[in-house]
Amino acid sequence: MKGNNMDGFIKTLPKVELHLHIEGTLEPELMFALAKRNSIDLPYETVAQVQAAYDFDDLQSFLDLYYQGAQVLLHEQDFYDLTWAYLKRCKADHVIHTEIFFDPQTHTARGVPFDAVINGITRALEDGQEQLNISSHTIMCFLRHLSEEDAIETLQQALPYKDKIIGVGLDSSEQGHPPEKFKRVFEQAKELGFLTVAHAGEEGPASNIWDGLDMLHISRVDHGVRCIEDESLVQHLVKKQIPLTVCPLSNVKLKVFDHMRDHNIVELLRKGLCVTVNSDDPAYFGGYMVDNFLAVAHALNPSKRELAKFTENAIEASFLTLEEKTAYKEMLQHYIDKQLKPIL
Ligand code: ADE
Ligand code: ZN
Repeated sequence: MKGNNMDGFIKTLPKVELHLHIEGTLEPELMFALAKRNSIDLPYETVAQVQAAYDFDDLQSFLDLYYQGAQVLLHEQDFYDLTWAYLKRCKADHVIHTEIFFDPQTHTARGVPFDAVINGITRALEDGQEQLNISSHTIMCFLRHLSEEDAIETLQQALPYKDKIIGVGLDSSEQGHPPEKFKRVFEQAKELGFLTVAHAGEEGPASNIWDGLDMLHISRVDHGVRCIEDESLVQHLVKKQIPLTVCPLSNVKLKVFDHMRDHNIVELLRKGLCVTVNSDDPAYFGGYMVDNFLAVAHALNPSKRELAKFTENAIEASFLTLEEKTAYKEMLQHYIDKQLKPIL
């Protein structure tokens, strides 16, 4: 359905984001400001040049630019400013809860201390709770193109900050770096009490989703859209209600699907999967949460109830407590009742 009525419903619909790389929220303007503050030379002179460089059409060409952009982040205040800018966008998009990824290895490999990263991010998240009423959790991702030893060392570095990190995840290049490579570090993380998630079935095959579930014991699949290639996997995901954190604009930008009209998110929802809408790396993929919902609505014609179901699924799939989930579900129900009440 098109039109203002639908767009207005989407704009103010309460939203929960579960797949968001904080480094992927680095807008060109902030990139320039931080480069200036930290005396870093960038290969661009204008915002337009940065945007022109974002012509990637697969995961690796995107990742090359994403890691280059992250080089302007050096100090705790930089991570604070990055996270705070994202939270202000969340507020504008009616995001009530967010679970953000961060990639410590992208920074520690450049000599940035782990505590600068985690302290900057969590200080902004605390301010987000206090000043914007947005709740949050933090998930530390291991870069899958680096070694298992590197991931184990990163897990050790995180231990003093365990109270600030709810789970661990797995991101970066999926091809050639299957879940199996990280079996042991995920086992250790589980023993230490971290929850686990992993990117799987984005550029890699459906078998990576099975392996993520069986070998890494993940409670959510990040992306997971290629599950559609394996009917028994689809049935398993439905039966166990294992959530998929789907990122529509990201998937089109990286050519997982050629057009939004080809995206399978609504098809998966209608098959009964616990699918959610997320923005992944919004500064690179053309939009935040509202933009992702609008793109799905305009191309795939879901009903308002189906769009609200994405939020209900995300509340259920989140790492919130039972009490928090109940409160957010009530908030959502209130919104639905108000918006969809029959006109007498
Ligand atoms: N790191 C940031 N965004 C990513 C994505 N979409 N897939 C894998 N790694 C990522
Ligand atoms: Zn991602």
